[in-house]
Amino acid sequence: MPGTYDFGLVGLGVMGRNFILNVADNGFTAFGNDLDEEKVNALIEEGGDTKRVNAHTNVETFVGALTTPRKIMLLVPAGKIVDKVIETLLPHLDEGDIIIDGGNSFYTDTDRREESLKEKGINFFGAGVSGGAEGARRGPSIMPGGSREAYQHVKPIFEAVAAKYQGEPCVAYLGPKSAGNYVKMVHNGIEYGLMQLTSEIYDLLKKSAGLTNEELHATFASWNEGRLQSFLVEITSKIFSRKDDLGTGHLVDKILDKAKQKGTGKWTSQNAMDLGIPIPTIDIAVSMRQISALKEDRIKADALYDRPSPQKVDKDRFVEKTEQALYFAFIITYAQGMHQLADASKEYGYELKLGEIAKIWRAGCIIRATLLADITKAYQENDKLENLLLSPTFHQKVEQTVASARELVAYGATNGIPLPGLSNALTYFDSYTSARLPLNLIQAQRDFFGSHTYERMDRDGIFHTEWEK
Ligand code: 6PG
Repeated sequence: MPGTYDFGLVGLGVMGRNFILNVADNGFTAFGNDLDEEKVNALIEEGGDTKRVNAHTNVETFVGALTTPRKIMLLVPAGKIVDKVIETLLPHLDEGDIIIDGGNSFYTDTDRREESLKEKGINFFGAGVSGGAEGARRGPSIMPGGSREAYQHVKPIFEAVAAKYQGEPCVAYLGPKSAGNYVKMVHNGIEYGLMQLTSEIYDLLKKSAGLTNEELHATFASWNEGRLQSFLVEITSKIFSRKDDLGTGHLVDKILDKAKQKGTGKWTSQNAMDLGIPIPTIDIAVSMRQISALKEDRIKADALYDRPSPQKVDKDRFVEKTEQALYFAFIITYAQGMHQLADASKEYGYELKLGEIAKIWRAGCIIRATLLADITKAYQENDKLENLLLSPTFHQKVEQTVASARELVAYGATNGIPLPGLSNALTYFDSYTSARLPLNLIQAQRDFFGSHTYERMDRDGIFHTEWEK
């Protein structure tokens, strides 16, 4: 006999516990499952009323507690554990039941799982969930992909728990198969790009304009009131005001400069390479995390080479320039990510609606930003837009800010301050907006040494030249 709980969730870590409490807050009954008895008890205690939120370590009891078709979300680490959990659930499920993987699973794993579960009559969703622990509790952005019909069963719950942007839920059915995980992967690639850019601007403001942590806090806080308003700028401002609990001064100055990564940014870059879509700002953000990890080498090399000491700059003017350059580079980063999504949609048959994706990123997720309202508008005006740089919505915004990016990139190069994200964003812009690039020479070289042939601008056909004859 089926149970009475509307929603099931496996994996009662911080994300899982918060998500299930969010479901219950929105009027649905929910049942959790975890092998760890402590986590099960913690949820029951926090839920307050077992008729509303309950949990058990036993899988059969868990599955039996749910209404059919069962809606079971997994919030467990990506990889083999997902397969293991599915395996333990399967013997207890009925045809038509729905499993939703809410982790950062690799999109081809989702395709494989969806295919094999379909044969067993089970609907499988890959649903990216963004917003961290706080988002899971108060309203994340949710990116589900899978069967459109089965989504109807999940929709009321997801729409209730998702973050709201001016009343609209930040969740939408994105497309078939692994569309949801793929979109979340690119979301994270964009996240890497924005974070790298923010760190470069911090470096400039600190080393060149001499801003103190208090001034950095105030600067980012004021930017967060303007067009740069975003979750990442907001938390950056808060980070600069945080004092060190374990010593004197500010915490940010004590944190080791080695950035870790779980893989989603790297996957975004790897896949963009496979698709042949340039996303250099995201690529370099991944590389910079790798360079940051080489701390011991960096210390040795730092002692070996001289570096210019940064020239003095006018503080107020510099703050203004950095705001403009950061805004410019944020636009370029979103443009690269959206371009990748557009191409992947064709390649993998996702039928993505880029305007819908921009919409559900406007609140709840890590890359939420005022800018996404403009991106939504750009796709509403033209849903076939190849690149945000071709949109009238962005033309003026880019024209007005690119000069500051140029000035800062030149300043960084002369003064030995690495600005890889910013300079890549600028190079991408200068190349993408050049009708003629010097790659005619590369074609000539390829034909010279390997008879690889070339095309001409003045006539059709494929040509080869015996260059030394
Ligand atoms: C989110 C985040 C999240 C991710 C972190 C850490 O949208 O809530 O993207 O899914 O786990 O950003 O990622 P890295 O460890 O790779 O930096």
